[in-house]
Amino acid sequence: MNASRSGLLLLLSLSLLFSAGACAQEQSVRPGVNAYYQDPEFSTWVRRFESAGREVYDLREAIVHASGVGPGMSVADVGAGTGLFTLLFASRVGNAGRVYAVDISETFVREVEARARTQGAGNVAGVVSEPRDAGLPSSALDLVFVCDTYHHFEYPQDMLRSIHDALRPDGTLVVIDYRKVAGTSSQWVMGHVRAGKDTVIREIQAEGFRLIEDNPMLRDNFLLRFRKEPR
Ligand SMILES: C[S@@+](CC[C@H](N)C(=O)[O-])C[C@H]1O[C@@H](n2cnc3c(N)ncnc32)[C@H](O)[C@@H]1O
Repeated sequence: MNASRSGLLLLLSLSLLFSAGACAQEQSVRPGVNAYYQDPEFSTWVRRFESAGREVYDLREAIVHASGVGPGMSVADVGAGTGLFTLLFASRVGNAGRVYAVDISETFVREVEARARTQGAGNVAGVVSEPRDAGLPSSALDLVFVCDTYHHFEYPQDMLRSIHDALRPDGTLVVIDYRKVAGTSSQWVMGHVRAGKDTVIREIQAEGFRLIEDNPMLRDNFLLRFRKEPR
């Protein structure tokens, strides 16, 4: 084979490789994990998420404090569920602030909006999002909060990129999720939760965030704070 022909072949294979990479879409890491949220009976989930004995419910006020949510801030509760944290954030950020209740379940979002209206919280905006995209405005948020939802992300990399885009420079991402430790965690956690804390930190840091705090205040869960960095 002469030099110009082999050069051409090399160029062709490189461009094929490049276009395959550019088209590659993240595959679901947990197909079907959100099936039971598609048509949820709201009151059942309120009882499940907002009852004594669930660690993040019992310590909800301390969690809001540890997350650093304050007056005037723009906050997104990604995977808002029944609105447990959305409603607490709404009173914390006050009239000058804003809270986006983001969820892929339209029922949850509409019910959280209704709860906010009933409580006179005019600073809550519901967002029915996509599994790969939080559907938030760009560079608009001071803080994104993800509680008991990271292990429900079917496309964690795409979601992290979308959250990164929504945060202001220096914005904060708070992630609370179950500790998954063989020999210590329940069988349910071992089977249901995809990744342990170290994997979660690695995945999040790979998408342009720096870990700034690993808060030990919870027993069943970890609470991590990250700062947005340039990608
Ligand atoms: C276990 S619930 C947690 C609800 C709430 N954060 C809490 O702790 O009470 C997980 C929620 O995440 C939502 N969810 C799953 N994947 C999502 C995604 N990619 N974007 C937004 N919400 C998502 C589900 O619909 C569900 O409401």
